[in-house]
Amino acid sequence: MAVISGWRPHPGQLAFLASDAPVRVLACGRRWGKTEVIAAEIARTLLGGAPRAVLLVAPSQEQAMLGFERAIEFLQRAGARPTVRRSPAPTLTLGDSKLWARSAARGGMLLRGRKAHLIIVDEAAYVPEAVVTEVLTPMLADTGGKLALVSTPRGKNYFYRLYQQGQEDGVRIWSLRSPSWHNPLLSPTLLQMQASMMSARQFQVEYGAMFLDDAGQVFRTEWVDRALQLNLPEEGLTVAGVDWARRQDYTALAILRGSREGAKLLLIRRWQGLSWREQLEAVARLLRLYQPVRVLCDRTGVGDPLLEALHEAGVPQAEGIVFTQTVKQNLIDQLALMLEQGRLQLLPDPALLGELYHFEA
Ligand SMILES: Nc1ncnc2c1ncn2[C@@H]1O[C@H](COP(=O)(O)OP(=O)(O)OP(=O)(O)O)[C@@H](O)[C@H]1O
Ligand SMILES: [Mg+2]
Repeated sequence: MAVISGWRPHPGQLAFLASDAPVRVLACGRRWGKTEVIAAEIARTLLGGAPRAVLLVAPSQEQAMLGFERAIEFLQRAGARPTVRRSPAPTLTLGDSKLWARSAARGGMLLRGRKAHLIIVDEAAYVPEAVVTEVLTPMLADTGGKLALVSTPRGKNYFYRLYQQGQEDGVRIWSLRSPSWHNPLLSPTLLQMQASMMSARQFQVEYGAMFLDDAGQVFRTEWVDRALQLNLPEEGLTVAGVDWARRQDYTALAILRGSREGAKLLLIRRWQGLSWREQLEAVARLLRLYQPVRVLCDRTGVGDPLLEALHEAGVPQAEGIVFTQTVKQNLIDQLALMLEQGRLQLLPDPALLGELYHFEA
């Protein structure tokens, strides 16, 4: 299929592009080429000649931007010259056709009031079901438009149910499940490396594209989904937590405001592959900006030098904390309780949501 000249879909991508079903559910592993096939589908639709309104949705704005930028590249490769606006919200115009890239955050508030011929949701299993059923599906009613949900699985949520319906129906709903290694371009070395960095169960889900149920899961999927839809007031103290990377993993920074009665996550960042100096500067810059009253830093195994460096970098309030088994368990219990009771508002950060989903007791 000549979708975009010079671009060759792999067999799984081709099957997705070839389906004419009103609803397509594509469940596949990481690095399978999900965002790539989404961009190809968008480009093909916009290049089709008929005026089309296409909406690309993802859990976060950053994620929606990935597909948006990739679609622009495809269009340009096909010789088209779209008009692109990136702020305040990504919008692309090509003749009478339009593409919007939007986040599904805040219950899909940023999506309402549009009509579309094609809606594609990247990482759909991480978008709350209500956004898909109550916000997105109605946008297709007038146009008889199509919906495509593409994602790594996340338990047996609505994405799984639609996948199952597709397996039984196949006409109204088309569905395909395909592990990462069905992407012939993916290097086996990378797969092996990933497998060594995560639990077997997590690898089965993230790369094997398996729909595993909630057994052993500490943070229930519905608690996390609700935490994304809360709208708690902006009040209380600002606090931060820092976890320094060791060898292969990430340095992480979280900044929250509120109290144990109700708190919201203001920012979450992760960095990988930075030198100590770069990590320190990245973390210190954000802490100087947000001015949290307390900054708790993991000093397990890294000791005091980083803490002292943070003090010198304009964060005198930073304090060290050693993650003993007891401290850790206590933090996890508190976190689970706050989520269960709807006292913590989260941000739709895919890495964070993935970690919460995979966290096992
Ligand atoms: N048909 C293709 N031809 C050439 N390169 C491809 C193709 N499909 C995917 N790729 C490349 O493979 C890599 C992974 O693709 P992509 O980012 O679309 O995967 P993904 O499933 O969205 O990954 P993630 O799980 O990280 O979101 C990218 O570098 C992409 O350019
Ligand atoms: Mg992707």
